[in-house]
Amino acid sequence: MLDGKKIIVTGGSRGIGADLVRHLADLGAQVAFTYSSREDAAQKVLSSLPGEGHFILQMNLSSEASINQGLEKITSKWSEVDGLVNNAGITKDGLLLRMKTEDFDDVINTNLRGAFLMTKALTKIMMKARKGSIVNITSVIGQTGNAGQANYAASKAGLIGFSKSVALEIASRNVRVNCVAPGFIATEMTDAISEEAKKKIFEQIPLGSIGEARDVSNAVAFLLSEQSKYITGHTLSVNGGLYME
Ligand SMILES: NC(=O)c1ccc[n+]([C@@H]2O[C@H](COP(=O)([O-])OP(=O)(O)OC[C@H]3O[C@@H](n4cnc5c(N)ncnc54)[C@H](O)[C@@H]3O)[C@@H](O)[C@H]2O)c1
Repeated sequence: MLDGKKIIVTGGSRGIGADLVRHLADLGAQVAFTYSSREDAAQKVLSSLPGEGHFILQMNLSSEASINQGLEKITSKWSEVDGLVNNAGITKDGLLLRMKTEDFDDVINTNLRGAFLMTKALTKIMMKARKGSIVNITSVIGQTGNAGQANYAASKAGLIGFSKSVALEIASRNVRVNCVAPGFIATEMTDAISEEAKKKIFEQIPLGSIGEARDVSNAVAFLLSEQSKYITGHTLSVNGGLYME
């Protein structure tokens, strides 16, 4: 489905990103993926991948200098890029009145500004080649809002508006931009939620269970593939029916 495609994934050392990297490699893609601090975990994922041509790179998505360094490494290896998945993301939860400005900025910088910088740089390459697909991982929280997550919800809602705008700008060059909006998926990010809060959330999921990383990976792979060649500016929800647009 993705034979020979060169795809970049941010935050591929664990969680949804690690599963996605494996899935894309299984489907025939060459994958370059970033990690922020856990090189050992990234190496482990890398060594488990089938096929050749994959590589890892350290990148801090809240730093423009770090992103530029990483991008230089990518372009020194690859002259063309077929896909970009802006997956890396963080939460720093707190009620508005107690939220530190620093925690607001950190979440916006990593989740939204990082995706902006990556998209801007790679769009140039894709537009030149007149092909490409960008997938931004947003969240059900960006669609519904959530008490205690004003920073995270703003970053994820921002990604949806960002994606639609860029999709309009670059559609004529055959470069597509879409979002995948997961609901609750079992990863370290959701491990942090208390058992009581989790129970309440599960009761609201029509399909009756928490999602798996592979549910998200399947949706992303579809949007990166030619099977979705007539889809752009879309947000694909992977949430068990938790929120319906
Ligand atoms: N797990 C869920 O239920 C869920 C639901 C909706 C959306 N999401 C989104 O899916 C994406 C992946 O989430 P996950 O559950 O796998 O989370 P996770 O915490 O397991 O992984 C996050 C990844 O982002 C990377 N990262 C964090 N900060 C970074 C930085 N400054 N620079 C570079 N990389 C950085 C981490 O290294 C890690 O690889 C995130 O964007 C998240 O917001 C997750």
